[in-house]
Amino acid sequence: MPPAGVLADPALRAHSQLDGVDDATWVEVIRKMDEVYSQLVADEVALEQKNAELEQSQRFVYGLLAAMSDVLVACDEHGRIEQTNAALCDLVGRADWALAGTPMAGLLADDAAVQRLRATLAGIGRGGANVELELRDAAGQPVPVDLNVTPRRDARGRCIGHVFVGRPLGELKRAYHQLREAHEALKRTQQQLLHSEKMASLGRLVAGVAHELNNPISFVLGNVHALQRYCVRLRRYLDALHGGAGAAELDALRGELRIDAMTADLPSLMEGTLEGAQRTADIVQGLKRFSAIDREERTRVDLAAVVERAVHWVCKGTAPAFVVHWQPPAEPLEVSGSAGQLLQVLMNLVQNAYDAAAGRPGIVPQLWIGAETDARHIRLRLRDNGPGIPPEQLGHLFDPFFTTKAPGKGTGLGLSISYGIVEQHGGRLDAANAPEGGAEFTLELPRSG
Ligand SMILES: Nc1ncnc2c1ncn2[C@@H]1O[C@H](COP(=O)(O)OP(=O)(O)OP(=O)(O)O)[C@@H](O)[C@H]1O
Ligand SMILES: [Mg+2]
Repeated sequence: MPPAGVLADPALRAHSQLDGVDDATWVEVIRKMDEVYSQLVADEVALEQKNAELEQSQRFVYGLLAAMSDVLVACDEHGRIEQTNAALCDLVGRADWALAGTPMAGLLADDAAVQRLRATLAGIGRGGANVELELRDAAGQPVPVDLNVTPRRDARGRCIGHVFVGRPLGELKRAYHQLREAHEALKRTQQQLLHSEKMASLGRLVAGVAHELNNPISFVLGNVHALQRYCVRLRRYLDALHGGAGAAELDALRGELRIDAMTADLPSLMEGTLEGAQRTADIVQGLKRFSAIDREERTRVDLAAVVERAVHWVCKGTAPAFVVHWQPPAEPLEVSGSAGQLLQVLMNLVQNAYDAAAGRPGIVPQLWIGAETDARHIRLRLRDNGPGIPPEQLGHLFDPFFTTKAPGKGTGLGLSISYGIVEQHGGRLDAANAPEGGAEFTLELPRSG
């Protein structure tokens, strides 16, 4: 319907008729105007909504820029600044609006930095580039900034400028320094831990050695004391002989000093002393072979001998009542590595087995050690008759400091250090519960060669 005002106005009607335009045309025109007007109103609403969304996303972007701790500069293709963030403004001591439109080169400390910037931009690829540039800070001092430069592209992929994001190196260097110090402290602590575990292992070894040496030394000492007494008696007899004593007197003295029994005893005394000294020499020799605990030397190592030594020293030291079943196979068990370190691993496994199996009333602590080989590996299995390992602890056995032993009895480092040693030897160390009961540790090492 045409607006009532238009049709009712006689002047307009007369005018329209004068121009040869009838009412129907007017009505159509006015209807179109109305349609256009409504469309305009709808477009305005949509525009306002878009505007509000735009403002919101702009606020979001500004919020992000303000929250960034890295400095940011966006430039156009001529190197003029279009956008910065709060971190950059704080660093150079100038406001965002004051920087907008000025050349990026104006932020740089000297000509050398400008040259470097030009060279970087000239050679920049699609993925961007990294460059260290000196900016002039709020106090006018040069500050090195490690910047990542990436090209900005429009919808058609044309380069329309560059974005620089980076961090003053002073901060990075400080953070790096702190990280280095923390790392050094960690390394020192690790060294101390390794050292304390080595000392514990050495302590066990020393306990074994002391016990072992005690026996031959004590019978060498006993024999030497007896020889000393024999010497005194022999001297008396010889003095009498050389002093011209008569046959009867000599006979009596011979009986009194029990010269015949003494001379009969002498060979076995000498033999015993020799044997004791030899035994001591053997122990020292054996120790020498394994004294390379600290040395990283890789040599061919007879694993069977290492097992024997480990069992020997643990039994001599702390586990005299331990029954260990170990029958090395006929073929050689040769691996390549450090005999001292492997001894440390095996001594800990044997000691752990004893600690677990001992102290169960009425049960003799026992350990079964078996060896299997294939073309490339040697596998040792150590099963004890202890209580086994509770399932919830199985995953923690190799963690440093995991121990169920009383304070002062275990550091909880034995297995974690052993794990590292075995890994360095290219092998594996696993723990499980044996179907027959008790814990079973498997040590697998590559065959030498
Ligand atoms: N044969 C085993 N049977 C049962 N539990 C075991 C056995 N071997 C090790 N464990 C458990 O694993 C823990 C960790 O052993 P690990 O050798 O690392 O340290 P530790 O023996 O406690 O102390 P350290 O070896 O430093 O003297 C032990 O405390 C024990 O709880
Ligand atoms: Mg242990």
